[in-house]
Amino acid sequence: MTQLKTSEITSYDRQDWERGYESQPQEYDYWIDDIEGEIPPDLQGTFFRNGPGLLEVNGQKIHHPFDGDGMVCAIAFNNGRAHFCNKFVRTEGYIAEQKAGKILYRGVFGTQKPGGFFTNIFDLKLKNIANTNIIYWGGKLLALWEATAPYRLDPYTLETLGLDDLDGVLKPNEAFAAHPRIEKGKNGKSDRLINFGVKVGLSSTITIYEFDTDGKLLHSHAHSFPGFAFLHDMAITPNYCIFFQNPLVFNPLLFILGLRGPAECLKFMPNHPTQVILIPRNGNQEEVKVLEAVPCFVFHHANAWEEEGEIFVDSICYESFPTLESGSDFRELNFDSVPAGELWRFRLNLQQETVEKDVIESRCCEFPALPPERVGQPYRYLYIGTANAESGNAPLQAILKIDLVSKDRQIWSAAPRGFVGEPVFVPRNSFKSEDDGWLLILMYDAVNHRSDVVILDALDISKGPVTKLHLKHHIPYGLHGSFVSDIVHRG
Ligand code: CO
Repeated sequence: MTQLKTSEITSYDRQDWERGYESQPQEYDYWIDDIEGEIPPDLQGTFFRNGPGLLEVNGQKIHHPFDGDGMVCAIAFNNGRAHFCNKFVRTEGYIAEQKAGKILYRGVFGTQKPGGFFTNIFDLKLKNIANTNIIYWGGKLLALWEATAPYRLDPYTLETLGLDDLDGVLKPNEAFAAHPRIEKGKNGKSDRLINFGVKVGLSSTITIYEFDTDGKLLHSHAHSFPGFAFLHDMAITPNYCIFFQNPLVFNPLLFILGLRGPAECLKFMPNHPTQVILIPRNGNQEEVKVLEAVPCFVFHHANAWEEEGEIFVDSICYESFPTLESGSDFRELNFDSVPAGELWRFRLNLQQETVEKDVIESRCCEFPALPPERVGQPYRYLYIGTANAESGNAPLQAILKIDLVSKDRQIWSAAPRGFVGEPVFVPRNSFKSEDDGWLLILMYDAVNHRSDVVILDALDISKGPVTKLHLKHHIPYGLHGSFVSDIVHRG
């Protein structure tokens, strides 16, 4: 018998995977009636999720899914029933392009206006696509995209209310990242939302914002660093905001000339260290620290915490920046030619200024999630999207539960014809243990070309879905989401 190389064994069909990237131009609003299993009666609230809904404009393909117009889904669980609604964020760009029936803006990830070189040269205006995350905070539902202010939506109807400057916190053209962290209040303190904004140039400025539960700014502070910083996410601890400035250099010439999107002008420098930037949450510039770690690229951090004078950071790391070959369509991505994400643990010693690295999980993974109570704290359980096969790079088709103490693993796989997105952890009201909750996942089912909302029991994901809610249509692969217990559908 011939031994197959891992890369030749695929648990999925290539066309199945590609169909999950078909646009969904329709907007729906209905009670879900096709349900396998029971909706847990005490699951009350709304699961919001954001992601690119259009992968082309009137037949003109966009170059990268990260350039797709933001479409928000809301799945509201109310007394054992579930309601589905999806709507595009009516950004200035979405409205203009839908009216014109063609691409009018350039995208960060390389989408160009049709017409070639002369239409794109010196056009540096990028489209705010509001497609990366969706949070409900201080009474506002906000669709986030990291390079600009958020768009505010009605939490019940998902109608777009407009760009939101957070009651004057954001000045014109100031950015608000798509990865805020919520720190659960302890010892009588209230919860806080902590986020950042990056202004890039020859040097980069990171501004940190902390908000109370009413959405009122508690404090903000800005810090500048030399060089170009491509920062998608941060990790927090009780005392620090932590950023990984990966060894990327930005050569804007091709972007200015209109030949590439800005994210395509990033070059990975494999012999340069990653700079780990620690900004104290009290804003004291003298306490800012920069340590050096191994070269790698990070989109997402899983968690960070402080323990006996050291700081630990768990992150999804790539050996280099995963870029598409220019000119190629993302649908033609060769998984074997791009690095796979792995879960790495960094141990930071601030006195000795050292960073040690350990690989916790070498299986291809992305989109980490953990119980909200453990954000910024020592934690035991991590949930993450993973490939079906143990090795090699492939689409995410399974959810992995990692017990970071016992090292046990549990897996639930939707392969061969299911493809998963980010899991969102919802704690049970009974909250008996750290992992007592549900995982909510939007899964693309290629058999029926539709999406399912899958509910897993976070205590034991290996037993498979508790409930599968079959939508009437598909939702293209998305990015991030959140669960809000106090918003439910009015119906
Ligand atoms: Co992200």
